[in-house]
Amino acid sequence: MLFGIATKKDDDWWIGVTNPDTPHLSKYESLMFQGNGYLGIRGSLEEHYLNEKRDMFILGTFDKFKKEATELPNLPDIVNIEITVNGKSLSLNHGETTNYQRGLNLKNGEIIRAFDWKKGPDKLHFEFRRFVSMANCHLFVSEVKITPISDTVRLQIKSGIDGQQTNGGTQHFIEGNKRLFNARFVQMQTQTQNSLVKFALTEYHRLFLNETELTLNPRLQIERRQVFANYSIDVEKDQCLTFVKYANVFCSSDKDLKDNVSEDCLHQLEHVGRETYQKLLANSTKAWAEKIWNNSCVEISSHNNKPQIAVNYAQYQLVANVPCDYSKNIGAKGMTGEGYKGHAFWDTEIFMMPFFRLNIPSYAHNLLIYRYLNLIGAQKKAHQGGYKGAQYPWEAAMPEDAESAPLWGSADIITGEPMKILSGSTEIHVTSDVAFGVYQYIKNTGDYAFAKRMGYEIILQCAQFWASRVTWNSVKNSFEILDVIGPDEYKEHADNNAFTNYMAHWCMRKGAEVITDLRQNDLLTYNHLNKKFNLKQLVKELIEKASMMYLPEPNGDGIIPQDDNYLSYKKINVNKYRMSDSTSEIFKDFDLKQLDKIQVTKQADVLLLLLLFEGNFSKKIIKKNWDYYEPKTIHDSSLSFSTHAILANDIGLYGKAFDYFEKNCQIDLGTNMNSSVKGVHMAGLAGTWKIVIEGFGGVRLVKDGLQIQPHIPSTWKSLKYSFVWKGIKINVLVTHGCFSVVADGKIKFISHKHVYYAEPDEKILIETKV
Ligand code: BGC
Repeated sequence: MLFGIATKKDDDWWIGVTNPDTPHLSKYESLMFQGNGYLGIRGSLEEHYLNEKRDMFILGTFDKFKKEATELPNLPDIVNIEITVNGKSLSLNHGETTNYQRGLNLKNGEIIRAFDWKKGPDKLHFEFRRFVSMANCHLFVSEVKITPISDTVRLQIKSGIDGQQTNGGTQHFIEGNKRLFNARFVQMQTQTQNSLVKFALTEYHRLFLNETELTLNPRLQIERRQVFANYSIDVEKDQCLTFVKYANVFCSSDKDLKDNVSEDCLHQLEHVGRETYQKLLANSTKAWAEKIWNNSCVEISSHNNKPQIAVNYAQYQLVANVPCDYSKNIGAKGMTGEGYKGHAFWDTEIFMMPFFRLNIPSYAHNLLIYRYLNLIGAQKKAHQGGYKGAQYPWEAAMPEDAESAPLWGSADIITGEPMKILSGSTEIHVTSDVAFGVYQYIKNTGDYAFAKRMGYEIILQCAQFWASRVTWNSVKNSFEILDVIGPDEYKEHADNNAFTNYMAHWCMRKGAEVITDLRQNDLLTYNHLNKKFNLKQLVKELIEKASMMYLPEPNGDGIIPQDDNYLSYKKINVNKYRMSDSTSEIFKDFDLKQLDKIQVTKQADVLLLLLLFEGNFSKKIIKKNWDYYEPKTIHDSSLSFSTHAILANDIGLYGKAFDYFEKNCQIDLGTNMNSSVKGVHMAGLAGTWKIVIEGFGGVRLVKDGLQIQPHIPSTWKSLKYSFVWKGIKINVLVTHGCFSVVADGKIKFISHKHVYYAEPDEKILIETKV
């Protein structure tokens, strides 16, 4: 497996670089993202470079200008530290840099950078460290140690808050107030231009010469949207100057604020600033362990540690980006860059949710509460389109927003004009995807309290939408869904996209089931929901429409038509695009209108349907559809590889499964230095975990409950993992030929059509065919 980032043979928790490689900074900035579910900061270097993209976000603080899509505003930068040595600015592009090493510790999100730098007669050793605290969501701490190796030098350090950041040119902040408090605390108070969210950013510095703290007051420097503190000091050869920066960020929507944003953050920083960097890091490391590492185990024994690093990295990013409260969702790129503007997609329910519900169900719960709050926006959207119930936005931002997808995209190669993005109006499968996520969460966790308070209502609202969205076709004598975009976004006006129809059908069926079940077993919840819906009428409508719904069946060759026309379109050789390291290469040859009429698929579409409804289709049908669609799929979305890997493993194409696993791991960590510039791919990363646990580990939620049916790659010696099922922790160890299951409670699971029952701590050993 080729990585575009350095790893260490004996360290499964480190990714980094061993030379400055400043031309590719943007990729490393995304990869070395630090976050805690509230605050997210890209891994930019402390000093400035030409092609850097400094980004810092607080989840949920969207701002919107007229005629532009709403987006997470890029906050003033607090990472910057500019260092001058005898009047010469530290820059890795000048002078001579040796022994360079920079890396991210995946256990606790600390970035460490160390190197020697020589400019003219001066040589110095630098060591930078920093982290975003998992123990205190507002806190960022950074430290630099500078040791002159050649002679005494005069050092100048400039550090502060720099609000001259933009989102691709858009400045979301007003000028604000900037000042110094108590001679040592610099502060900026500002506000977004339109959504009027207030922010306070405060920074405090301490300096030490060897072990002795210096009482050195800074020179304050205020510029437009900038406030800096400047320090100047002579440091002798072999003395070590330590500069510690404590910074915190608050905003007016924080629930832990008392009354005055600026005073609160000042007080907190005064308090925190008494601690050492190491102590605060230890608190954060402990919080990381409690949040994920103590609960989740994935151990791969293989001939090298690349698969292990890839899965550790995936978990690191998912946890660093998952919102710590329920009013926010995870963007397609988390907070790791400006790509997709912080918006959440179906990526959350279909791709990321399995990781959270099987590891930290409370976070899956939060994400679903967000969708409950998002019913306001979804009902608005349904209403605007003339439908009933709730239609979830294709791109979600604030829960009350109906739709946040932008209207215009990149240039059309034929017309030269920007292409209209239709996803916001036509990619409607997201409504079933959300309901599907809700249902799977309830089944997995047994959290019926959530189901009664929110989950069932989400499912019913979605089902009601579908009942109003389907149209009657008197020739086919069935209900159908016309003019949609399915997962394959290269078909913009599909009629009866199989994925969309099956999911809508599932949703209406599930809605009817929920109503019938509540009427029989839980009249209290039934009556409560009956105040919001006419359940008697709704159940009748759902049963009727679901039973008359057109579901594209396998044709004579066993192929499920992706939509009404796909199979009649022209076939072309798509190998060139499939092989390419970059996505969207096909747009160099065709525009969207042309792609609409070609048998080329952007990402798993029918194949995803076969995976999500695996119990409904035979292995033979899955294999036939694999043979048909896989060669036509060009994987122009990071969501595609994981479905292919898992499905290939299911149907015994083990070599292909491993190839797709490797490809998936390489989406961000691979050698394409442009792939992650605007942020990493959260659903792709979740895909890495999914392939390991749901694919090779064989953990599935099937009709009859939990299934564990592993098959690991031939190059792996073993796979050990744990997950939570209805509050019970289950540990699985898979080797070639057998696997064992031990749980800390009573469980029942299925494997190869056998049902197994295990008592607490009883070890069940199952032999498998090799
Ligand atoms: C994919 C969508 C996905 C979005 C965000 C697009 O390229 O086609 O399915 O939701 O990216 O990840």
